[in-house]
Amino acid sequence: MSRWDFVGRRDELNRLLSAVGGPAGRGLLFSGSAGVGKSRLLREGIANLPTDRYAIWSVSASATTAALPFGGLVQVLPAEQPQGLSPAGILRWAVDLLQEQAAGRPIVLAIDDAHLLDPPSAALVHLIARAENTTVIGTLRNGEQIPLPIRALWTDDLVDLVELAPLGPAETTGLLAAILGGPVDAGTADRLFRLSAGNPLLLRELVLAASGGDELSRTYGIWKWTGRLELAPSLTDLIDTRIGQLTPGVRAVVELVAFGEPLGLHLLQRAVDPADVETAEERGLITVIHDDRRLNVRLAHPLYGEVMRRQCPVSRTRRLQATLAELLEQVGKRRRDDVLRVAVWRLDSGTAQDPGLLLDAAAQAFGRYDVPLATRLARAALEAEGGSDAAELLATILMFGDRPDEAIQVLDSVAGVITDDQRRSRWLTVRGMVSYWGLSRESTVEEIAASVAGLTDPADQARGRAFEAIMRLHGLDTGAALRLAQAVLDRPAAPVAARELARCTVAHLQAAQGQYRRSATAIARVQAEAARWRGDMPYLQLAMELARGTRLALSGDLAGIDAIVADEFADLAGAGDFRLGTGYLAILQAYAARLRGHSDDALKTSLGACAVLATSRVYAGLAHAERAQAAALRGDATHAAEAMAEADRTHAPGMAVLYPWLEQARGAVHAAAGDLPAATKHLSALADRLREDGFAGHELLVLLDLVRFGQAAAPVGPTCTDGGRRTVAQRLTELSERVDGTLPPLVARYARAAVDGGPTELLAVADGFAARDLVVYAAEATATALHHAGRGRAAATGPARERLADLLRRCDVVDTPALRLLRPTLSEREWEIARLAAEGATSRAIGERLYLSSRTVENHLQRVYSKLGVAGRAELRAALRSMPGQEGTGPA
Ligand SMILES: Nc1ncnc2c1ncn2[C@@H]1O[C@H](COP(=O)(O)OP(=O)(O)OP(=O)(O)O)[C@@H](O)[C@H]1O
Ligand SMILES: [Mg+2]
Repeated sequence: MSRWDFVGRRDELNRLLSAVGGPAGRGLLFSGSAGVGKSRLLREGIANLPTDRYAIWSVSASATTAALPFGGLVQVLPAEQPQGLSPAGILRWAVDLLQEQAAGRPIVLAIDDAHLLDPPSAALVHLIARAENTTVIGTLRNGEQIPLPIRALWTDDLVDLVELAPLGPAETTGLLAAILGGPVDAGTADRLFRLSAGNPLLLRELVLAASGGDELSRTYGIWKWTGRLELAPSLTDLIDTRIGQLTPGVRAVVELVAFGEPLGLHLLQRAVDPADVETAEERGLITVIHDDRRLNVRLAHPLYGEVMRRQCPVSRTRRLQATLAELLEQVGKRRRDDVLRVAVWRLDSGTAQDPGLLLDAAAQAFGRYDVPLATRLARAALEAEGGSDAAELLATILMFGDRPDEAIQVLDSVAGVITDDQRRSRWLTVRGMVSYWGLSRESTVEEIAASVAGLTDPADQARGRAFEAIMRLHGLDTGAALRLAQAVLDRPAAPVAARELARCTVAHLQAAQGQYRRSATAIARVQAEAARWRGDMPYLQLAMELARGTRLALSGDLAGIDAIVADEFADLAGAGDFRLGTGYLAILQAYAARLRGHSDDALKTSLGACAVLATSRVYAGLAHAERAQAAALRGDATHAAEAMAEADRTHAPGMAVLYPWLEQARGAVHAAAGDLPAATKHLSALADRLREDGFAGHELLVLLDLVRFGQAAAPVGPTCTDGGRRTVAQRLTELSERVDGTLPPLVARYARAAVDGGPTELLAVADGFAARDLVVYAAEATATALHHAGRGRAAATGPARERLADLLRRCDVVDTPALRLLRPTLSEREWEIARLAAEGATSRAIGERLYLSSRTVENHLQRVYSKLGVAGRAELRAALRSMPGQEGTGPA
């Protein structure tokens, strides 16, 4: 049965075309039940687009492509993907590539059955959709599970989601005529409309079922159906029956395609009789399409595959998958993708015996960050006698997925079969990594040190030393860490991965010490070498992220944090099983939100980080500390204390290098509980410790907290030669010359201004913070300025109040000691009157409303003005708005 003309659907088609060409800039997804005509509508829409004006990519996801990472976008992405990219790196590479090929034309990405996209493809589609010049159009079948990045397309307003309704009676009649190639008798059209309920696929299957016998006949050119069917059969029943009636040859064709689509025509023809392929095509069961220079065979409709796969007994399914693997192996695996496909078929058919193939495929799946598939493949490789190479890869994957116990088991299972030194050194380091970070065994450092001494090859030794160095750093033995890392960097024989790991160690230390420029240069270098280390040592990524994140957080570079969060797509990367990386990014994201005063977001994101890292000992303490900070910012002392206790419980001694973050949070928790003396005492002691450890970057932030708590003039540090101690402000001035960047001088200036109490200077500092998006600090500096001004002349604070109100408007709930300074002690009644007056009510109106005389109202207002330090009604509104927790509009 040949393809018939497209019928009806004018409005939908127009809507699709205007989504692409219109000014709205939003794409369109059609959802609807199986067979209602979504795919056909999409095809028709694409066919109507001018190919010279748009760069159009059209893909259809299917159950078989869903099993492979980027399987859904094979038709779009080149077969060869660059090696050594991070998950985000791969996505970025793909986006850049499409943009390049589009050569300035607007991009249209059409996706049929977007619910069947594999996770990496779904993430990529979302990313593409975000680009300015791109429109995503596509279809979704109702009732199916939808990948999160696809769902996010409409929650992020990148596309509209429209339900595609069944055809109406007139359209159904038209379609019948199109299918049959001639007009249809009115009664027949009516009955078939009722039976099909306007579902084109059902209609087509009904006609196909009828056309076998003599119930469907043509008289004087008019088609008439005399079948007896009263109740509509289900679509799958009809397809079931039709497929059940296929000859064995044709059936074999449909089966192979059902398990292997898209399947090269040349491959298919090797396995079956070409005549049967033709028959299957004629019967409308399969279609042959051109993509990427080869002729591929796909099912004509996904339901055929669903029915076929369901009908197929397990033993036969496995035989078919083995056949498919053999076919592809016979013709030679031409694309990198083919390795993965063959391996998955081998795995599914229980014929996975070639460890080399499985290992290769596992590495590929891992390289595309499909952790579940990579795990399966690597495990199969190990079972197929893949030895220590397989064990190493599997252990690494398990470690990334936060399953260290299993990782150790895997490694120990091959301990006896390792014979050469090189493998031994790799095994030692991977096992060391799992044991130190995964299982928190601090003794690992000494074990590694001892076994490295026994290695003879300098390259192997360098590898071991690089691990020892970073373990020592994390365990806070910074002197030894630096010496070891430096030694690795100085050694020409050191493998790239070892050298870059050592560089991360140095870069992390530099960040903590406030040497941000050198740290940034080092990290840029590590990143530039990624292609050379990622395959060898994928976990180096985590060391790099920690070093980079430490620098960005300490230097208050919120834009930098935004950039990596956007770059690494923390939310999308979550689609994979990448707990450690995702969790750490979420902590950074929460940190940036907190400093901006977005306390809702900070709390939500840090809670998310805690959840992701629940079982990990690497960053859990850090995540809870960040949560404590977010709660403290909101003035929620109970939550803050609970989170701090959890941070202490989960913090691993092996990550001692993170202590400054935890201890800084403890200061905030004391302050949130209203115990400023305890906060001050704690933070002063912390500043001393940081100074001894040489962590100037951290020290600066802790001293900043002391300033925020009104302690700029308090003494810190040891007694100097002149017999006195430095003040917080003086120490900050010292640090501002030692710590890189523009934040330290600003902080030092803040401290001096806080000591002097000069409102103008404080306001200038506030502007400096605001310019860096450090909104909480800006608001606090402004509040401090107002506080000082309040002691002196009450006038001229209007503009400052306006500014504070603006800053607080940019925040969610924030309640910190500096902001609390401003909270005047107004009585309930005074609040009530102040709010009404701020809204513009006259004293008389207020009096009438509250049953008071105008004079009493006036008296109250005078008291309010003097408490708030404002001159009159005109300034009242801004004054109220500048008070945390007070909207200043209307009675609460
Ligand atoms: N407006 C139309 N004009 C002509 N034929 C149509 C029309 N709509 C659908 N068809 C035909 O009906 C059949 C089913 O439609 P289609 O494959 O588009 O369904 P679908 O909604 O994509 O189903 P699924 O959810 O199972 O993918 C196809 O053979 C298609 O060509
Ligand atoms: Mg479809």
